[in-house]
Amino acid sequence: MFHSVQPSSLASKEASYNTSGGRRAKAEVSIRLSTELIQVKKRLIIAIDGPVGSGKSTVARRVAEMLEYKVLDSGAMYRAVAWKALCERIPLDSPEQLAGLASRVHIDLVPRDGKQRVILNGEDITEWIRTPDVSHAASVVAVVPGVRHPLVAEQQRAGAEGGVVMEGRDIGSVVFPHADLKIYLDASPEARAQRRWQELHEKGEASDPLIVLAGVLERDRRDREREVSPLVRAADAVLVDNTAMDAEETARVIVLLAREKTKAAAG
Ligand code: DC
Repeated sequence: MFHSVQPSSLASKEASYNTSGGRRAKAEVSIRLSTELIQVKKRLIIAIDGPVGSGKSTVARRVAEMLEYKVLDSGAMYRAVAWKALCERIPLDSPEQLAGLASRVHIDLVPRDGKQRVILNGEDITEWIRTPDVSHAASVVAVVPGVRHPLVAEQQRAGAEGGVVMEGRDIGSVVFPHADLKIYLDASPEARAQRRWQELHEKGEASDPLIVLAGVLERDRRDREREVSPLVRAADAVLVDNTAMDAEETARVIVLLAREKTKAAAG
């Protein structure tokens, strides 16, 4: 669907015609303006879900860049809660304490230089939430319903106006079940483990490829088997398997799908 608006530049154009032209010219211009209102493209909500290593973050960022949308990485919120839990030595097997923590912290995802900064209670913790310890803790806190509820509500608020690419595990199924475009991004476990290994290698963190693969399979299991908001492909999500595609190609495919949706919405 397109939203029709009459920008102020047109209104002033009409005013100048009104003053310089006769009655007929004024009527013609008025008719033209009312029938040819400028149409502004609908700004979509794009949900990208998928398992660890499917390239969601890089792809979502690139899609958002190409469409001039904002990007929101919902996993960063679970990571932020996990980081805080580790700092405060909150036991990860206490759902009550974790839920209490999630409802008392304030997390902002702030776009900066095409990336996202994660601010928790005013402190920029972006650099601290990508360690293996936090990754593990995040997958544990994410199974707690009392943690998910406040974070999902925040994600819904953040994306409500559209023009957003939100990535996670349950965006198309729970956070935005009526998203305009839902993508389920996947790749073989081996390809995903290889990407993860490469990332660690680039950070100078030596790791055994088989251990990385075991970690990926373990996180898959936890994400897919948890009771609340498990990782699933929503029935109306488009499956994009990028085992043999790089992030740029994957992003282009999604942008094409998004443009189709915008065209279809135009009628
Ligand atoms: O995408 P990620 O690895 O940064 O996510 C961190 C953890 O949060 C991961 O274990 C899955 C979980 N998560 C989730 O349960 N729901 C989301 N919408 C996003 C992430």
